[in-house]
Amino acid sequence: MVETIRKSSLQERQKWIKDAKYNLFLLKSEQVFIDLLTDSGTGAMSDKQWSEIMLGDESYAGASSYYKMKDAINTITGFDHFLPVHQGRAAENVLFSVLVKEGNIVPGNSHFDTTKGHIEYRKAFAVDCTIDEAFDTTCCHPFKGNVDPEKLEDVLKKSRDKIPFIIMTLTNNSAGGQPVSMENLRTVRQIANKYHKIIVFDSARFAENAYFIKIREEKYKNTSIRDIVLEMFSYADVMTMSSKKDAIVNIGGFIGMRDDDLFRQCCVFNIMYEGYITYGGLAGRDMNAIAQGLYEGTEFEFLDTRIRQVEYLGNRLLDFGIPVQQPIGGHAVFVDAKRFLPSLKKEEFQAQTLAVELYLEAGVRGVEIGAILADRDPVTRENRFPKLEFLRLAIPRRVYTNNHMDVVAVALKNVFDRRNEVTRGFKIIREAPIMRHFTIELDLA
Ligand code: F0G
Repeated sequence: MVETIRKSSLQERQKWIKDAKYNLFLLKSEQVFIDLLTDSGTGAMSDKQWSEIMLGDESYAGASSYYKMKDAINTITGFDHFLPVHQGRAAENVLFSVLVKEGNIVPGNSHFDTTKGHIEYRKAFAVDCTIDEAFDTTCCHPFKGNVDPEKLEDVLKKSRDKIPFIIMTLTNNSAGGQPVSMENLRTVRQIANKYHKIIVFDSARFAENAYFIKIREEKYKNTSIRDIVLEMFSYADVMTMSSKKDAIVNIGGFIGMRDDDLFRQCCVFNIMYEGYITYGGLAGRDMNAIAQGLYEGTEFEFLDTRIRQVEYLGNRLLDFGIPVQQPIGGHAVFVDAKRFLPSLKKEEFQAQTLAVELYLEAGVRGVEIGAILADRDPVTRENRFPKLEFLRLAIPRRVYTNNHMDVVAVALKNVFDRRNEVTRGFKIIREAPIMRHFTIELDLA
């Protein structure tokens, strides 16, 4: 699918962003020239996926599309049981309705915001056990998504009875689209076994994670992506999936499981929140497109082209001396806003300020992954200031060319050249009690 994008003037963008209360989520898409807000649901489906759309079986129960999706999930991940849901956070809602209780503690590697939201909404706590290297954007560790086994065991020793499961996010989005190594997954499995805990994979970008294992973990250089994926999932008991990422569709998700009893309990909530267990909020045609997308998304050639494009943008920025999380992530380039705008106070939201500046410069929309996204502490209600303040430039799959990447790189360089003039950030005017970043309203500080 080809879509028209339009340039705008600085005066137009100044008005639009003010009207949008300096929140890029509140812009109209036609006010954006190059949209790097997210790689979620924004990819271009292939000819084969569009063909599958035409073959969708829209029966309420037992549709052939459901079985097509079941086959694909079983072939790619090895999970026998699955429930379709409308997207990733719906999978979290259904699964956590069964597993997470008030006062629980869920350790993992930088829980994604909807994951953390669904944990904290249930008055439970997410504990980030990511390795320290991930928080130094200049350090080039190949698997910055990894969990630190010592941190994890510490939490398990202290709070064993309060822990319903360990969650592993593949790739680790919030730390910069950073992968988890197979060795780390194996270690986490051993720790989980020792403490009799189950492991949930938040699998939104599992195929990109497998690509990095193939490229960076010596032992796997001759193993196919499909075999790597099967081994990865062999260490998990449950998976949640936002199909909007690595299954390259515009909407959809699922939960994969092995345990019969857990499956039966999840069915109850799936029916309440999503729809019947053989469609879960999806049309038959959506399930067909997901099945096809799972096969395409796990092809080495596709992953190689996609991830190299992200790397291309990252390297252009590095050549300009712009500070970014290194190594470059799988789905996005994460610009280190603390190092980009060091004189701006953190209370004035450095990454958000940078995101607005880039939009004003060239109509490029990125997203803040920093203090606004981090929400307030659920107990003290104080702002949380995470160790990392990022402007994320997420690249949709199969949409933009490297010419677009050049425009983005030069636009950010222009902002970098005038960074000393950026002296004023933002203050919050209105915010929601949880997951505030989507609807927050800001004004100049
Ligand atoms: N887990 C991870 C790691 C994610 O990145 C996302 C979504 C979800 C779960 C939730 O999935 O959006 O389908 O409900 N990430 C998008 C992003 C929104 O821009 O990173 P969803």
